[in-house]
Amino acid sequence: MVAEMKTFQEQTFQVIDHVLGKDNNPPSPSLKRLEGKVAVVTGGARGIGEASVKLFVRHGAKVVIADIEDTKGIPLADSLSPNATYVHCDVSVEEDIEKLINKTVSLHGRLDILFNNAGVLGDQSKRKSILEFDGDEFDRIMRTNVRGAALGIKHAGRVMVSRRSGCIISMASVAGVMGGLGPHAYTASKHAIVGLTKNTACELGRYGIRVNCISPFGVATSMLVNAWRGGGCGDDDDEEEEELCEEEVEKMEEVVRGLANLKGATLKAKDIAEAALYLASDESKYVSGHNLVVDGGFTTSKNCIGL
Ligand SMILES: NC(=O)c1ccc[n+]([C@@H]2O[C@H](COP(=O)([O-])OP(=O)(O)OC[C@H]3O[C@@H](n4cnc5c(N)ncnc54)[C@H](O)[C@@H]3O)[C@@H](O)[C@H]2O)c1
Repeated sequence: MVAEMKTFQEQTFQVIDHVLGKDNNPPSPSLKRLEGKVAVVTGGARGIGEASVKLFVRHGAKVVIADIEDTKGIPLADSLSPNATYVHCDVSVEEDIEKLINKTVSLHGRLDILFNNAGVLGDQSKRKSILEFDGDEFDRIMRTNVRGAALGIKHAGRVMVSRRSGCIISMASVAGVMGGLGPHAYTASKHAIVGLTKNTACELGRYGIRVNCISPFGVATSMLVNAWRGGGCGDDDDEEEEELCEEEVEKMEEVVRGLANLKGATLKAKDIAEAALYLASDESKYVSGHNLVVDGGFTTSKNCIGL
């Protein structure tokens, strides 16, 4: 009896720790929200993608990491083996996406979740006014952020249709909700993701496939820190990017906290991964065509006056 009470007490504490996000251990089987599922995460080698890969694996999924950053993607997959695999994939190239999805199905026999997370902000040294429109830069951002997501939806959809189920999540941004938060090409691309999500949710709903997107506020990843440094944009055209140092991340988080509506909290990559986990899990089984804005109320409160 005493032993049973102790086990019950331990389990209760484990659940409380999990709910509070205090545990680093895998959740108990009943709390594994993606048990038996197969997921692809693009741009999964670092930043928000990396946090999502780790969380999905922790929740029982087999994850295929797709990225162009082999030097980060391969060790990440190795560290999570056998539950994660790395595939080199440039999301803007249809052949790469087709191979990625086919390889996932041949490895695991199915695909349940696609997280279209890969994205680029654009070279901050070219952060120009529309009056100095740079067509090549514009096309480059659209190719990765929009074409990449559309190709992902096409090829994931292709294999999900036959199983009459599946879940596709794309990465938008607060820059997909309002203007003035990034370069015009990036803003246009993220608005396009919201539109693409809504339309493809209509197109694929009849096959039982859910399509949603996430719009985060600022997270101190390489993308944001590099922009703050005034440089690179996170794709393979870049010169070698410096590694993130803790000091820069903290400084960036301080800047973001200063701009935020919601005080007393710092938005982390893991928080966005949690939003993706919700949309990927059966807990959101009737949510489709939705843009899950994770911004502490920034886009709805920015213009409030006198409150
Ligand atoms: N960090 C933020 O504040 C923030 C806010 C809103 C939205 N987002 C979005 O979140 C997503 C992830 O961004 P992050 O902050 O983790 O940035 P990040 O630069 O750390 O990660 C982006 C990842 O995408 C990969 N990638 C870039 N181009 C690719 C391509 N053509 N094919 C495959 N992979 C490619 C990069 O190699 C990298 O691993 C992006 O879509 C970004 O626009 C970020």
